[in-house]
Amino acid sequence: MLKIAVLVSGSGSNLQSIIDSIEAQELKCSIEMVISDKEGVFGIERAKQKGIKTYVLDKKIYGKEISKEVLRLTENKVDLIVLAGFLSILDSELITSFKNKIINIHPSLIPSFCGPSMYGIKVHEKAIDYGVKFSGCTVHFVDEGTDTGAIICQKVVPVHPEDTAESLQKRVLVEEHKALPEVIKLISEGRVKVDGRKITII
Ligand code: GRF
Repeated sequence: MLKIAVLVSGSGSNLQSIIDSIEAQELKCSIEMVISDKEGVFGIERAKQKGIKTYVLDKKIYGKEISKEVLRLTENKVDLIVLAGFLSILDSELITSFKNKIINIHPSLIPSFCGPSMYGIKVHEKAIDYGVKFSGCTVHFVDEGTDTGAIICQKVVPVHPEDTAESLQKRVLVEEHKALPEVIKLISEGRVKVDGRKITII
């Protein structure tokens, strides 16, 4: 069975979508650990409630060493690292050790509204300001850039004239909660074929 580590920095609703999908027996994988880069986040609570092993690597204490610690905790213990709202940048040693084995979810249709310091509500504010008619979410492999890795799955939502950043965020989040478990399932079934930037679902 696919073993995963889920990394969070916040409320962990995407982590919850993975837990729910496993409990509904739609997804067969085991969450070996949940790691946070911040003390006191609800994502860690969600994991504890389910008896999942948790680690807090406080960004303020670990600084740039976070990646090394994540590697130490996950190496030879998990098959896939899932960034579910994790805000720390990972270094190349970890990315090389887990080549095509780290995925991230981003709340826009990459390559729009992504990259350094584009996270949280800012992403949706930019989408509204730009006047796009559609937004959505993207699940991608993590490479050494920010939000630049090969795209595995995108889900699209309409943007309505009366939308605020908050209402758009809510609509996108519903799709995130479908996309992330779906991609993990595809990976667990060996159905994600990688050819450079071209990902094919077989
Ligand atoms: C999500 O919008 C995710 O796409 C982004 O950060 C947010 C995290 O939400 N990377 P949650 O912590 O999973 O509720």
